[in-house]
Amino acid sequence: MRIAWAITGAGHFLRETFEVFKKLKETTPDLKVTSFVSRAGEEVIRMYGLAGELSGISPGGYLEERFFEREQGASNPKAGRFLLQKYDALVVSPATSNTAAKIAYGIADTIVTNAVAQAAKGGVPVYIVPVDIAGTIESKMPFSKDREICMDCKLCPPAESCPEQAVADQINLLRCSGCGLCVKLCSYGAIRGGMAKLKVRDVDARNVGILRELEGITVLDHPQSISRAIANLCKN
Ligand SMILES: Cc1cc2nc3c(=O)[nH]c(=O)nc-3n(C[C@H](O)[C@H](O)[C@H](O)COP(=O)(O)O)c2cc1C
Repeated sequence: MRIAWAITGAGHFLRETFEVFKKLKETTPDLKVTSFVSRAGEEVIRMYGLAGELSGISPGGYLEERFFEREQGASNPKAGRFLLQKYDALVVSPATSNTAAKIAYGIADTIVTNAVAQAAKGGVPVYIVPVDIAGTIESKMPFSKDREICMDCKLCPPAESCPEQAVADQINLLRCSGCGLCVKLCSYGAIRGGMAKLKVRDVDARNVGILRELEGITVLDHPQSISRAIANLCKN
């Protein structure tokens, strides 16, 4: 089994998708997973402390590479593999509302949306897990500093010890690697993650409806459904 896994910049369903792929790798010895990661995906993976886990799922080597939009440029030459039938399926999970909208309208200007376009042209089945489907969603937030709790200590242990120098007045999320050391070191509990409730916009729900109608694309409502979809592919 050779699966292409496309990751976009969504915090929602991110950890859940990693868990699914980690488990699949453990239970399916011949599974090879190539990752295609959008620019925002790369940033968000880091913020949630998952960069190391990506290397475990796509360790490098042929068909197990990690392809980053930042390095692959706009044309994303590796997408040619979909036309050469190198993959049994493309899984886009999690798919931001941005990426879902682009795919719904045939736009192919990122490593992920271009992979979807080439997969469709090559007859490779595409599975998409959009984050914004309907109603409200509860999403895990990256670390932030609560300025109302922060005591502005003269010597701030989180700032002193952060390996990425990401802790200042605020957490610089573009530097943060999500290690969580700062959370442990602040005696006042001023740095934390936490959950946020988000309303799904009408436009995003409509775009998911369009995705459901597109040829060659199957919309999955949760990352957990990825394992079943791949198991069904194995059977066929
Ligand atoms: C920490 C963090 C979490 C995010 N989570 C989401 C999300 O759950 N869903 C979403 O649609 N966008 C989310 N975004 C915004 C996207 O990253 C942004 O729209 C980006 O342009 C998407 O680009 P891409 O679709 O090419 O990956 C998040 C951004 C940050 C910084």
